[in-house]
Parts: sequence; C-alpha cells; structure tokens
Amino acid sequence: MRTWLTEQFDLTVPVVSAPMAGVAGGRLAAAVSAAGALGMIGVGSKSDPAWLDHQIDVAAAGEKPYGIGLMAWSLSRDATPGMAVLKARPDLVSISFGDVEPWVAPMHDNGVAVAAQAGNLLEAFALEDMGVDIIVVRGAEGGGHGRNEVATLPLLQAVLDNVDVPVLAAGGIGTARGLAAVLAAGAAGAWVGTAFTCCPEADTFAAAQDAIVAADLHDTTYGRIFDIVQHVPWPAEFGGRSLRNEFTAAWAGREHELEAGSAAALAAGDQVAAAKVLGDTRYAPVYAGQSAGLVQSRRPAAEVVADLACAQEYLRAAAALVG
Ligand SMILES: Cc1cc2nc3c(=O)[nH]c(=O)nc-3n(C[C@H](O)[C@H](O)[C@H](O)COP(=O)(O)O)c2cc1C
Repeated sequence: MRTWLTEQFDLTVPVVSAPMAGVAGGRLAAAVSAAGALGMIGVGSKSDPAWLDHQIDVAAAGEKPYGIGLMAWSLSRDATPGMAVLKARPDLVSISFGDVEPWVAPMHDNGVAVAAQAGNLLEAFALEDMGVDIIVVRGAEGGGHGRNEVATLPLLQAVLDNVDVPVLAAGGIGTARGLAAVLAAGAAGAWVGTAFTCCPEADTFAAAQDAIVAADLHDTTYGRIFDIVQHVPWPAEFGGRSLRNEFTAAWAGREHELEAGSAAALAAGDQVAAAKVLGDTRYAPVYAGQSAGLVQSRRPAAEVVADLACAQEYLRAAAALVG
C-alpha cells in the first residue's frame, strides 16, 4: 500500500501508532517502526526529562523513522519537552489539545514534520491555517483524551471534503477492515492507539492489559473525573475515554462534587492514587477507546501491524466492486 504517509516516511504500512502517555515509550515506538509503520512516543504532562531522553534513545536506536507526541496545553505551562524534541529532531512530532501554533515554525525550522489532532471541523480548519503537515481527524470513539463531539467517520468525510492537508484517521480503527475503510475514503493512513495498548512492548500495566482484552465494544466511558480527582489541569473540552470501572460508576456526573474537594472527594483522590500504584483496575483509569472491544489478546506490535497491513485485501475486494 502506498499513500502520502508511506512515501513521506518510507513506511510499508500506512499506520502511525498513537503517542500514548504512560503506554507508548521508546520500546513500543521502535517495535512499531521496525514492523514498517511509524511508531510514536507519548509524553505526558508530568513526564520526567530524563525519561524522555532515554525513550528517544531507545526509539532512535531502531534507525527507523519515529515520532514524539506532545500536549499543547501542557507545553504552554512547561516548554521543556518541546525543547527536547527540537533537539532530538524526530521525523514527526504531534502537538495536540491546546495552542499548537507557537510550535509549528520552530519544528519546521528544525526539519520536524508536525501533526495535530482535530476533534471537530473548526479545529481542522485552524490547524490547516497554522501550516501543520498532517491533520489527524480524531473521532469521539477514540481512546485517551480528546473531544467527545463527532464520531470518526462523519468527521473524516467532512474534513477530507474541506481541507487540503494530508489527513490521518483516528478513533476506533483496530483492524484491517477499519484501515481499509479510511484509506478508501481518502485518508493517507490511520493513527491507531488502543490496538497497541496490549502489546508486550507497551508500558500498560498488566491488569490494564487484561481489562482491555476482556472489554467489549460497550465498555468505555468518557469524562473528566479522573483528571479532576488527580488535579491534572486538562482543558475542560478534552475529557478522556477510559474503561468503565467501579470508580466511573460511582463518580460519573458528580464532577462538581469532586471539584469542590469534599472529604469524599479527597478520599476518592487517595483511592485513585493507591489504585494506580497497586494496578487495581477497579479504581485506576484505564484509558482505551471503543476499539478495546476489538483487542482479543496480548500480542507483539509486529503482529498488530501485520494484521492491519491485511487492509490491502479488503481494498482489492473493494476495487473489484467497480470492475
Ligand atoms: C492509553 C492512551 C493514551 C493516550 N495518550 C495520548 C497522548 O499522550 N497524547 C496524544 O496526543 N494522544 C493520546 N491518546 C490519544 C491518541 O493519540 C488517539 O487519538 C487515540 O488513541 C485514537 O483512538 P483509538 O484509541 O481508538 O485508536 C491516547 C490514547 C490512549 C488509548
């Protein structure tokens, strides 16, 4: 399969593994890139600079193209990870969720291509005006943080019809059928997160991998309660999609109560902090999208990439429909 994405980054499979803070370090990025797709490191708002330097070394050691994903709102508070990326010069940086513009020219000046995620049409227009190289159309069914406004397929159609920048589709793409669908629609590739969370190369804790494998299509929920209770200052429009668990069942819809900081809210914060240490998926956030229902086992990133590459069979079958 050859698309703008494969040509630009010398890939054999038109897939980018999404930057996932806490899940996608250098090992996952290197494994994905070794398999012919483009692997990305996810940098969180509390990532340690030494940790990032090490992940960059691990990814770069693979001598394949790789990328790093940053969060714009977090860079506005602390530009350190952005400066590290400018120094490392990966093949691709993604900067999403907040004020992307200040970073576009510096990245370009250092030869780094810029991708950014758009969760609605206006955001896609703004990113095109800023001069980003890739717009990642991210639908509401996607895992982790983002907008909860429009599903991937309607947003993809609208963006492809209205922007001239190469587009990748994100949110809910977990199998070759999904990749074939978005390529047939005109995307240059897919940006896939959840499907890589259960790879042995990922940093997802073991119980979270078990929970994702066990989850079905209906087992996710969207909201801000984990951010509020952990005091992570995500802008309110970017909630997170995670697996439902006992914590989300108890606190969904009670955001004001958590924000008010009652004794119960403080206890809830302690409960989440302890659960993260213990790997207790009843109370810890397990970020994943609806495609968690498509993840059937823990398996190496190379197998996930190879399965996605079977999209070409569906594309051939689709081509036969028109003779
Ligand atoms: C566990 C997890 C962590 C994520 N962390 C980040 C992140 O640090 N930065 C980012 O830009 N996107 C992050 N995302 C969102 C992804 O970039 C992407 O939008 C999403 O995974 C696509 O949907 P999918 O999960 O259905 O494939 C994360 C997603 C997941 C599942």
